[in-house]
Amino acid sequence: MPGADVNPDVYRAPVGTHDVLPPDSERWMRVVATFADRAVRFGYGLVLTPVFEHVEVFQRVGASTDVVRKEMYELTDKGGRNLALRPEGTAPVVRAFVQHHPAVPWKVWYLAPHFRYERPQKGRYRQHWQLGAEVMGVDDPDVDVEVIALAHGFYRDLGLTQVRLQINSMGDAESRPAYVAALRDHLRTAGAGLGEEFLARVDQNPLRVLDAKVPDWQPVIDAAPHLADFLSPAAAEHFARVRAGLDALGIAHTVAPRLVRGFDYYTSTTFEFVSDALDAAQNAVGGGGRYDQLAEDMGGPHTPSIGFGIGIERVLIAAEAEGLLAPDPQRLDAFVVDGIGDGTATAVVAALREGGLRADRAYGGRSVKAQWKLADRSGARFGVMLGTREAERDAVAVKDLRSPEGDQREIARADLVAWLHEHSGGDTP
Ligand code: HAM
Repeated sequence: MPGADVNPDVYRAPVGTHDVLPPDSERWMRVVATFADRAVRFGYGLVLTPVFEHVEVFQRVGASTDVVRKEMYELTDKGGRNLALRPEGTAPVVRAFVQHHPAVPWKVWYLAPHFRYERPQKGRYRQHWQLGAEVMGVDDPDVDVEVIALAHGFYRDLGLTQVRLQINSMGDAESRPAYVAALRDHLRTAGAGLGEEFLARVDQNPLRVLDAKVPDWQPVIDAAPHLADFLSPAAAEHFARVRAGLDALGIAHTVAPRLVRGFDYYTSTTFEFVSDALDAAQNAVGGGGRYDQLAEDMGGPHTPSIGFGIGIERVLIAAEAEGLLAPDPQRLDAFVVDGIGDGTATAVVAALREGGLRADRAYGGRSVKAQWKLADRSGARFGVMLGTREAERDAVAVKDLRSPEGDQREIARADLVAWLHEHSGGDTP
């Protein structure tokens, strides 16, 4: 029997990944279109980078991070190159900046799949999609405000009301070393009894301990010094100007002193948008910050930059929890039912589509009754019947599929496109 030796487990999407099918994909289209529209209004251009890069590009985001240490999908291609599937979106954009040296400010947005070998759970996947934006080449705090406002307005455009903004400053090259030293001292002393894993992390990068989720470590983490107390005058001034700019735009925010974010490249402003409609373990619907040194680390010029990434799946879960973005039950304006069978239906469907309407039909010479059944199931507002009697008068019969009486009316073929445009969006004619 054909297919008898097939292992069905192999023909399933791998653990932690998902197919997105219609009609659910409609919600994706709306989320992406909403973001793209905003990004374009803010003066950002689309950037597309490869799904894989040389592994060194991603190693730049931090040797001490979970993403690089444990979660990267690494591969060797047939030419012996060491590559990795994109675990995060900033490093490839910076790599492209360094490679092509575009004029600054370079303002770009992206839509891309990301890959992290994580333990899958609701809102945490091995492939997830991000919408992101990056501005490279400006250290003006006004840019920080603009970037945050771009993301903030996107959530608002979708109607999300339970998304909160948290911000922090990671300090600059001047403030950071003193803070890291004080933090390391505190963690080593207060956490001396917490075991090897803790002390190894402290040695590698004490900042990474601050966002650790291990319950036993929390009292020591809670007692740690705050970065805000170590900011240089310049870093403190930058942070104050970002906060004042957000206030001026009416963008509510709270300062989160422990917000260090999961990558080593962050400097200065960092921020996260969290949704109270999601489980606390993965409630971040977006996050980002400044990374003023990363371009230099990749061999480029000094290029202060800032950006963010937004997880599309999480936005969709948050939207669902808030009762937003339900798929539109009216998927089509018209479904054409062919009662003639001479090719007229093909011409009518083509005319509707070219006329800007959403139109569909049945295939394979089905009976008129079967076609009406498909019309009912299709999500179309109107059924358009091509019958021999109406054809003699160059007309069609139109039936409102939403009305329980199913009244039919005759419309001249020449008027059909205009009539459907007038009626398919609105109430029962
Ligand atoms: P991130 O915080 O790692 O930042 O990811 C951004 C967003 O992607 C998160 O807030 C979350 O919504 C979503 N996300 C992350 N991991 C997963 C996952 N496993 N499953 C589902 N959603 C996920 C970055 O990636 C930085 N590149 C952001 C950035 C841009 N910073 C500066 N510019």
